[in-house]
Amino acid sequence: MESTAYRTHGCGELRPQHVGQRIKVVGWVRRVRDLGHFVFVDLRDRSGILQLYAPVQSPCYAELKALGREWVIQAEGHLRLRESPNPALPTGQVELKVEKLVVLNRSQVPPFLIEDETDGQEELRLRYRYLDLRRPIMQRRLELRAEVLHVVRSYLRSRGFLEIETPMLIRSTPEGARDFVVPSRLRPGTFYALPQSPQLLKQLLMIAGYDRYFQIARCFRDEDYRGDRQAEFTQIDCELSFVTQEEIFAIFAGLVREVYAQVLGIEIGEIPRLSYAEVMQRYGSDKPDLRYSHAWEEVTDWAQGQGVPFWAGRKVFWLWVPQGKASRKQIDRWQTIAKEQGALSLATVQKERDSISSSLSKFFSLETLSLEGEGLGLWVGLDKDKPAYAALGAVRNAVLRDLNLPPEKPWAFLWVKDFPLFEEDAEGRLQAAHHPFVLPHPEDIDKIEEAPLAVRAQAYDLVINGYEILSGSLRCHTPELQMRIFRALGFSEEAAQAKFGFLLEALSYGAPPHGGCAFGLDRWVMLLSGGQSLRDVMAFPKTTSGADLMLQAPAPLDPAQKAEVLRWISADESSAPSTFVE
Ligand code: AMO
Repeated sequence: MESTAYRTHGCGELRPQHVGQRIKVVGWVRRVRDLGHFVFVDLRDRSGILQLYAPVQSPCYAELKALGREWVIQAEGHLRLRESPNPALPTGQVELKVEKLVVLNRSQVPPFLIEDETDGQEELRLRYRYLDLRRPIMQRRLELRAEVLHVVRSYLRSRGFLEIETPMLIRSTPEGARDFVVPSRLRPGTFYALPQSPQLLKQLLMIAGYDRYFQIARCFRDEDYRGDRQAEFTQIDCELSFVTQEEIFAIFAGLVREVYAQVLGIEIGEIPRLSYAEVMQRYGSDKPDLRYSHAWEEVTDWAQGQGVPFWAGRKVFWLWVPQGKASRKQIDRWQTIAKEQGALSLATVQKERDSISSSLSKFFSLETLSLEGEGLGLWVGLDKDKPAYAALGAVRNAVLRDLNLPPEKPWAFLWVKDFPLFEEDAEGRLQAAHHPFVLPHPEDIDKIEEAPLAVRAQAYDLVINGYEILSGSLRCHTPELQMRIFRALGFSEEAAQAKFGFLLEALSYGAPPHGGCAFGLDRWVMLLSGGQSLRDVMAFPKTTSGADLMLQAPAPLDPAQKAEVLRWISADESSAPSTFVE
């Protein structure tokens, strides 16, 4: 009996072993080439590209010739070996001799090339995202994303994690960004917030006894878009009870290892660990790109003996770039960057063959520097009391980029731990460095009130190639300690109760010790797939100004709907019913 299915094979699946078989394929017309005696059509579906052909004497010849780009067709016929194989295509040894053709749908001429290398500007591609997503490179990226999720789910499931969904309409969760809010119709004057993360809900699940939780969680943060930030993004969100930091490192390094092995076929070794203090002093960043081994070295003691006036009483750091060679213009640029980031000085030395040149040569003998080989050296001076380590990071990044140095390895992983619990904002107010539920280091708990900025947190990040891919911590699980932290952050008892009363209450009902983390899925997939921005790995992303160019969102409301929403928004919240119980 003849198959009634649309297709017998995917276009990309066909190989010499199928030669001679009767085949039915469907797909989109990539291009039509009429060679006079033959017409060739490249047909594309998600599995790949197949060449169709018909000789001039075939009844299908005229039909194939009349096809347009991106028409949807069904073609049936016998597979044969190609006379001139195309080694660039997995199906390049075979072609389908079309004996029956059905046009399933026509297409307008697409506004850009549906190819890996397209001529479409990004704005146009976002406007016609469904055509952009039809490009094989985009399909491969979204397939990779799905593959990562598949590996993640099976890894976590095999280790006893339960996948639990949490709601989208909740109360504000403090992850440090602005909330997206949704006005309530049933309680005019009140608002839901969309979750910045499921942070508090997953902690409540721990209190409820679900001791290993995960969720592929959508998060919403009304913040400025950048290359590695979207307002709506996805986390692999995890939480565990009765867990130590060591176990968390082991479980999630295991997950990372599994994803690289299964998805990219790469074995990764042990993931090194450095404390926040160490990474700031060596790399000037809490997310250093360790594909480059270049590290700053503190040379303050040596520098003090050199008689350089602007080094007196400062911390001085040294970076050596073997083979590095900089132009005057580049050095000027790094000077500007260093100053902008709070450094007090930047000086350089260049060693080529046997000649050494430096702006500091009048202060000390460069011969005594004992520089090995050729290269470029930089000294950055920082304030002794408030060292702006970020300047070291900004200069390191600029140097690596401007000198176009190739990475020493394709992948570099790093755990950064012992982050500070608190930081100061621009006005000198104390803030949670991550979020306010992080557990302090046991040795530092006594400093919460007296020296809060010296308190280390049991918090960690996983950095891959200079991107923060995961962030997490152990959490406060007693109401007393949680309240001490709220107090240090300037919350009165009443204010803390008003904002986090439900959490403090829940902590008082036998909360287990717990902790967890969240991976930024989009960022990670961007790295894994070689994408340049988060938009490359999200099906329907937004532009940097927060717009969906295809849906034309955000959009004005129609006047009646707007009037109604405005009524809910502006209602006095005290007029809202105090309970929902019916
Ligand atoms: P955090 O806010 O650090 O932690 O987020 C965790 C990870 O999510 C990714 N990420 C983003 N990705 C894209 N666009 C954004 N705007 C964006 N913001 C964050 C990053 C980051 O490392 N609740 C805590 C986690 C925990 O403590 O368990 C949290 O949300 O890769």
